[in-house]
Amino acid sequence: MKKIPLWLDMETSAFPKLEGDDECDVLIIGGGIAGVTVGYFLSQSHKKVILVDGARIGRGVTGHTTAKITSLHHLLYRDLSEKLGEDTARSYGRANQEAIDLIEEIVRKENIDCHFARNRMSVYAEAEGDTDHPREEAEVAAKLGLPASYLEQSELPFGIAGAVSFDHQAQFHPLKYLSALAEIAARSIEIFENSRAVALDEGDLVRVEFENDSVVRAKAVVLATHYPFYDKKGGLFARLIPDRDYALAIKPETRVDGMYISSAAATYSIRPYQDLLVVGGVTHRPGTVSDTEGCYRKLEEYMHERVGIAEIRYRWSTQDNFTADRMPYIGPISQDTPNIYVATGFNGWGMSNGTMAGKLIADLVEGKENSYEKTFDPSRFSLRVEGGRLLSHSWETAKEFASGKFGGTVDLKEIREGEGGVVEYGGDKISVYRDENGKLHGVKPQCTHMGCIVSWNNAEKSWDCPCHGSRFDYTGKVIQGPAAKNLERTKVDDSL
Ligand SMILES: Cc1cc2nc3c(=O)[nH]c(=O)nc-3n(C[C@H](O)[C@H](O)[C@H](O)COP(=O)(O)OP(=O)(O)OC[C@H]3O[C@@H](n4cnc5c(N)ncnc54)[C@H](O)[C@@H]3O)c2cc1C
Ligand code: FES
Repeated sequence: MKKIPLWLDMETSAFPKLEGDDECDVLIIGGGIAGVTVGYFLSQSHKKVILVDGARIGRGVTGHTTAKITSLHHLLYRDLSEKLGEDTARSYGRANQEAIDLIEEIVRKENIDCHFARNRMSVYAEAEGDTDHPREEAEVAAKLGLPASYLEQSELPFGIAGAVSFDHQAQFHPLKYLSALAEIAARSIEIFENSRAVALDEGDLVRVEFENDSVVRAKAVVLATHYPFYDKKGGLFARLIPDRDYALAIKPETRVDGMYISSAAATYSIRPYQDLLVVGGVTHRPGTVSDTEGCYRKLEEYMHERVGIAEIRYRWSTQDNFTADRMPYIGPISQDTPNIYVATGFNGWGMSNGTMAGKLIADLVEGKENSYEKTFDPSRFSLRVEGGRLLSHSWETAKEFASGKFGGTVDLKEIREGEGGVVEYGGDKISVYRDENGKLHGVKPQCTHMGCIVSWNNAEKSWDCPCHGSRFDYTGKVIQGPAAKNLERTKVDDSL
């Protein structure tokens, strides 16, 4: 078994590191599906565009997804219609349905070999008592003009009680798609990798500083970094909630052709890829579970019981950002910063939402009309819809985590080879990892984003922050934002 995403087991074109200072019309920060799609559309304009990624193009969350391209986003439309009204729910559904067609159009036009294929997507209930919601979802979605129906049977090798199902959805290989899109865009825009943005100053010319001290000044900046690292406007640190999930690529005992996700709050997903099934599930807030090996075991057990596992070929985990009203934030980050755009909060559905965001932001930058501008405007805020959940789930917990109540400390001697933990050392708390050779690696446990205490993730061997989901490798290097700076290293006596 390889401990990497199935999608990342391939070579992709490398782009250079940003060196020196520059000026441009549009600076896109982040080369996932949102950022690269903006870059692709703007490559057709006459603007000078620079796209930078802190790591490699497509190897962030987009390279760790399960890549179902669908407008059936779990059980959403009934609740969206009730809380935000039918018009908003219709607009959301149409935007995502159009995004599926847009991906297909790009794949055909650019001749991209990424195994794009149309497929049916279903959300299934296993228990008879749980069918009301899928049934209502099918009714509401059909009324909104989506290709919805209610099924009582499926081709899954285990019994279901009922399912809401959308026809003509799709699936693909996300890295093959995204790396091809980046190569096409790179004919007209500049792309840089391994260039992390660390600071931003607002202005008519936005100034962005990178970790190697390079500076780019741009008339417009797009924050497509998954979780935005800049939040002096928009209050997104209090409005985005990260959740982590686990995935396996398995050789199943029984073939499954459709795409599925379970209807329960603790979701499990299944989709085919060639002779494999890509399956996912087991959610928790990052940094709140140290035994993440146990999460893989739980996912394995669920799939063993239902589809049978002949072999596990790959395993990986990743996280996405969730919003209280279940709609992404796409557009100017605030009303008084019209030249700083953001695309985030895809609620686990970034293939369609990220594609739609790419087109929407490219249109806004070019001053073109786009009928979805209002629907996804980050400046929307309804205290009724967002207020309660955010205050309880995000801000209060963040304060608690910031005070270090979560996790506690362990005795340094208890940390075995290949393990990590927060310990008391020399009168301070430090985070320590003991490598396979017994060498100790110490870092300060205060997250460089806003100071919450990081905790150990034993499967990925990383330090994860419970507040906004930043992650660092065992040497303290940033793997995932919003933190832009590495954890401070600190020396620990190897003889202990
Ligand atoms: C387990 C799981 C399964 C999923 N399955 C599906 C699915 O089936 N269908 C679906 O539609 N969605 C799915 N999603 C959601 C989807 O994968 C994401 O919403 C989407 O990939 C996010 O894309 P992005 O472009 O916003 O982020 P990313 O792909 O993470 O791109 C952001 C990029 O920004 C870069 N970056 C970050 N900080 C900086 C910085 N300071 N400077 C420079 N660069 C920076 C990163 O290196 C990264 O490459 C799933 C999510 C999870 C967690
Ligand atoms: S991610 Fe915000 S404090 Fe760590």
